[in-house]
Amino acid sequence: MPEVRPIYASAMNEKTQILFSLLCFSFLLVSPIESNGENLALSCGASEPAADSDKRKWEPDAKFIKSGNSIQATASYQDPSLLSTVPYMTARIFTSPATYEIQVKEAKRHYLRFHFYPSTYTGLDISNSYFSVTANDVTLLNNFSAAITCQALTQAYLVREYSLAPTERDVLSITFTPSDKYQKSFAFINGIEVIEMPEMFDSAVLVGFSDQIADAKAANLQTMFRLNVGGQDIPGSQDSGRLTRTWYNDAPYIFSAGLGVTLQASDKFRIDYQKMPVSTAPADVYKTARSQGPTGDINIKSNLTWMFQVDTNFTYILRLHFCEFQLSKVNQKVFNIYINNKTAQADPTPADIIAWTGEKGIPTYKDYAMYVDANNGGNEISLQMTPSALSRPEYLDSQLNGLEIFKMDSMKNLAGPNPEPSPMQANEATQKEFQNDKKTALIIGSAGGVAMVLAFSLCFTVYQRKRRFPGNDSHTSIWLPIYGNSHTSGTKSTISGKSNNSSHLSNLAAGLCRRFSLSEIKHGTHNFDESNVIGVGGFGKVYKGVIDGSTKVAVKRSNPNSEQGINEFETEIELLSRLRHKHLVSLIGYCEDGGEMCLIYDYMALGTLREHLYNTKKPQLTWKRRLEIAIGAARGLHYLHTGAKYTIIHRDVKTTNILLDENWVAKVSDFGLSKTGPDMNGGHVTTVVKGSFGYLDPEYFRRQQLTEKSDVYSFGVVLFEILCARPALNPSLSKEQVSLGDWALNCKRKGTLEDIIDPNLKGKINPECLTKFADTAEKCLYESGIERPTMGDVLWNLEFALQLQETADGSRHRTPSHGGGSDDFGGGGAVAVHVAGGGIRSEEHDVSDQSDDNGGIFSQIVNPKGR
Ligand SMILES: *[C@@H]1O[C@H](CO)[C@@H](O)[C@H](O)[C@H]1NC(C)=O
Ligand SMILES: *[C@@H]1O[C@H](CO)[C@@H](O)[C@H](O)[C@H]1NC(C)=O
Repeated sequence: MPEVRPIYASAMNEKTQILFSLLCFSFLLVSPIESNGENLALSCGASEPAADSDKRKWEPDAKFIKSGNSIQATASYQDPSLLSTVPYMTARIFTSPATYEIQVKEAKRHYLRFHFYPSTYTGLDISNSYFSVTANDVTLLNNFSAAITCQALTQAYLVREYSLAPTERDVLSITFTPSDKYQKSFAFINGIEVIEMPEMFDSAVLVGFSDQIADAKAANLQTMFRLNVGGQDIPGSQDSGRLTRTWYNDAPYIFSAGLGVTLQASDKFRIDYQKMPVSTAPADVYKTARSQGPTGDINIKSNLTWMFQVDTNFTYILRLHFCEFQLSKVNQKVFNIYINNKTAQADPTPADIIAWTGEKGIPTYKDYAMYVDANNGGNEISLQMTPSALSRPEYLDSQLNGLEIFKMDSMKNLAGPNPEPSPMQANEATQKEFQNDKKTALIIGSAGGVAMVLAFSLCFTVYQRKRRFPGNDSHTSIWLPIYGNSHTSGTKSTISGKSNNSSHLSNLAAGLCRRFSLSEIKHGTHNFDESNVIGVGGFGKVYKGVIDGSTKVAVKRSNPNSEQGINEFETEIELLSRLRHKHLVSLIGYCEDGGEMCLIYDYMALGTLREHLYNTKKPQLTWKRRLEIAIGAARGLHYLHTGAKYTIIHRDVKTTNILLDENWVAKVSDFGLSKTGPDMNGGHVTTVVKGSFGYLDPEYFRRQQLTEKSDVYSFGVVLFEILCARPALNPSLSKEQVSLGDWALNCKRKGTLEDIIDPNLKGKINPECLTKFADTAEKCLYESGIERPTMGDVLWNLEFALQLQETADGSRHRTPSHGGGSDDFGGGGAVAVHVAGGGIRSEEHDVSDQSDDNGGIFSQIVNPKGR
């Protein structure tokens, strides 16, 4: 898997944050960045110069094209995640090789940035676009599909940045060549930037080899990741040295169970660059950091770990930026740094920032080189830090301020393969085939009943529906371009290995979890005894059981009659076997034997969150415990959205899918409906509506467009459920109160929220904490997905709310900088404007009215039998 999550991966998730920063800072922009000889920005396919949302000027590209035929084109669709129409809405299309020639200064290093927005241009099918790009004699991209890459990244557009080594030439030739492997292939480009930069690279020690170095000075490099560790995104307009680099928050790449804590210098704190060029990194990078936390004896037992996807068989330069802004003496904070489990900087020569810089406020960086191949990391780079105790430092902690990862060229090549599709995308492929094989005819109901019909017309209808919309035909092939056209290809290998509908399990998934025999399972559950049933879902029943003599497990048994159940089952194995997280229910194994299909999970002793909230004889949960559970669940979802290889959308977030182990640790469960998402045409997945009533994102419901913000909406309902201790939907109440989401929002806006909170909590919630919590829940329920916070924002705000409560209770304190940072972090929501849309809500009521559930135990609407 090549760069599944390069530096731009968080662009869409963090969009509101970027917007917010742009809004805040646009009026204090020092000066718009003008294009000149050293800083050229081309808006490809544009006829007139135009400015982007940062007021930066982009020129038309025509006069730089020296050879080859091309077409000017305009995108037919503007994705809402595009921060600016310039340069994305116009494109230059090449159907044969073509070359740009751009004047540059000889003997100077240059950034070269490409902007790609794979959309529909003048009727061309973007999934046919495969091409290579060279800059002088360096291959930057080969057989590249922007569509596949964006799909894997779950974002609408992508930016590739290269740093080209100085040459003797004063002309930079950039050649686009459509791949001749595919018919109708074409190349396209939306924006090109060429920016002269200072020489920033030197040789670096090759980690794992005691006496070898990698010489980056003569190298061509590709920027893979550029992170403001422990801080917010920094847009290009605020970069130092006018290099217009974007720095992203690092949280999505954290792999360790704990996120550590973020540290922030005060606004007035001055960074003294001394001899280091200011262009190395902006001061904001050095004024924020992530450290392990205040508890040294916990820190020493763990590593703070980041994980990055990269292309195999390349050498990478990791540039670690450091600046101490709290401590000022040597041997106060000393730590070890490991890259791919190898010692980069560790005992007996551990890292000590003050020992390197002499004083606080002075930044520095360290470069480490790492060769990644099958024997070393495969396609991943891990970075780990843990305190060193060797010299008995004053604190046991470690710290990082910024991180850049660059790929070095190998024999003038920087190109890697296109990403593989995610397990879910592969799963879609097999389902699609299944449908094609059987020529299943599905009838879509008329508008009024659409939702109900869609609810059970299975994933298969995705494809049918898509074909019904004119102009959207390309969706069908875009979904799985890697497999070509599934009408014609019979024996392609998918991730699932097989193309029939018996077992779609990949070898990897099968290898990662244990396979049980049916007799083991029957023995462990007393032959599926009814007295062992602990739950019922759309797929079948869940039994309590025991394996290996004493290990308690939950066994989810598929209803053998349900084809859909089996698909969801396999989805869950594929997804869960690769996901390991403290706040996700772990899959222990599966059983596929004698016509039975079972999934075996860790047993969650305390059951579902819902059974502790209402209609229960169990003791009331304290407010603090509820907050901790909400934070745990938010963490699990945040990991699904950003931490795994692919963005995973849960699609069925609700209080019965949040389980509690014996220590009250919340774990998200039930991935049967999960989808990896969005496709590039809209940054969303167009799909049939699934999920549970009362929790459904109205936007998803209306437009059948699924994004991770649909989970955020559902989580907003969960937050109100936690606060008010009533079901998400209660049809026995008056019309305006049926839906908790609507009712709570209404009360929140009228200022009467306190009247509907759980009576058991009255007077026990710190008012500031309540405000923070309710504000967060409200933002989750914003009508429009883009205005809703990300799960990361939600997490920060909930942690902040907990901190407010703990401070009020006079209990345990956390580091103060943590709280300050978190509040800022969630600021994205502060500029969001709520757009009311009454119509959609009433649709939802109609749906609920048709239901026969009044006990609040509404669960799956995906039930082929019931309707
Ligand atoms: C990486 O290099 C090894 C050894 O040369 C080769 O077998 C393998 O195919 C290469 N992998 C890729 C993805 O290029
Ligand atoms: C931290 O990571 C390194 C490299 O993987 C490992 O050798 C070390 O044991 C880890 N330390 C702890 C305390 O987990």
